Amino acid sequence: MSWVNALARADIVALKVYEHAAWRPELERLHANELPWSPAGEDGRDGLNRYPQPQPRALLEGLARLYGVASDSVLLGRGSDEAIDLLCRAFCRAGQDAVLVCPPTFGMYAVSARIQGAEVISVPLRAEHGFALDEQALLERCTPATKLVFLCSPNNPTGNLLDAQTVLRIAAALAGRALVVLDEAYIEFADRPSLAAHIGAQPNLAVLRTLSKAYGLAGARCGALLADPQVITLLRKIIPPYAIPKLTVDAALARLGPAAMQSGRERLATLLAERARLERELTPLPLVARVWPSAANFLLVEFHDAQSALDRACAAGLLVRDARGYPGLARALRVSVGTPEQNSRLLEAWS
Ligand SMILES: Cc1ncc(COP(=O)(O)O)c(C=O)c1O
Repeated sequence: MSWVNALARADIVALKVYEHAAWRPELERLHANELPWSPAGEDGRDGLNRYPQPQPRALLEGLARLYGVASDSVLLGRGSDEAIDLLCRAFCRAGQDAVLVCPPTFGMYAVSARIQGAEVISVPLRAEHGFALDEQALLERCTPATKLVFLCSPNNPTGNLLDAQTVLRIAAALAGRALVVLDEAYIEFADRPSLAAHIGAQPNLAVLRTLSKAYGLAGARCGALLADPQVITLLRKIIPPYAIPKLTVDAALARLGPAAMQSGRERLATLLAERARLERELTPLPLVARVWPSAANFLLVEFHDAQSALDRACAAGLLVRDARGYPGLARALRVSVGTPEQNSRLLEAWS
């Protein structure tokens, strides 16, 4: 039996998949119980009266090129949130299996695990070492029931990159025992390449990417899991057949075109300059206790009085994220880097 099938839920491995309507674009469709007219007009040219292609090929290949992996290593989903949910459902038996997370980190790993009835094992990041992984504790806490290890780099909400060699060592140590899922939602804002290039050599490493952050398409809901083709095949069994709406496919393909890519690069440069300015100008403010260095499009800021900082931002018409609920971040707020004008307004509110 393959390592993926041995690790996954046996009932999912055995599941007979839903047979979606065949995708034969050369033929006229009288097989999917659609209307022959679209809401926009009689000719149906916008295609919205038709079910979209499951795992739309053009977008799959576009993202495979963008991320530098083979297209059979890509699963498209409604944001990377969907892949997190699918991973928990495919690998964890309710009441028996576990997921390991490293708080403070993105909350959906634990939420998806709990919805699935999986135990959540927490191995905190080491704040005193810039929120680095505790490699030894992590490996010690991994039991045979631990099917998934979620790591996030750059990490939300702390903004730091995890050490690449540590991530790869953890994956190597857990080969055949657990899938290490590295969430790189913010990697485009970092000065370091993705670890997706390693999934061929380290098949129990999977990488999450998204168009929601650097590509500016949070509203379109489009993310990807990059993983061993066996993992992709398994998850394709449980993702709903028409998961990616046509409007999303069109928006994503337009964003991957040369003109949009060029303006995206210019915007990214502006954002990185603004991140540096915010970090520089926030640090000396009397209200501010600490600005954590960030490789993402947000900054984690600790305050002497976080409530007052929150109130002052609101009074200036700006919403920042209250991060005080995260373990160890009792006086922290998370600030997304905005436009130069918004950032100036925030700095003024906190001055
Ligand atoms: C670390 C991380 N991963 C994943 C996501 C989910 O992104 P999406 O579902 O929009 O791709 C987020 C959203 O904030 C995030 O911060």
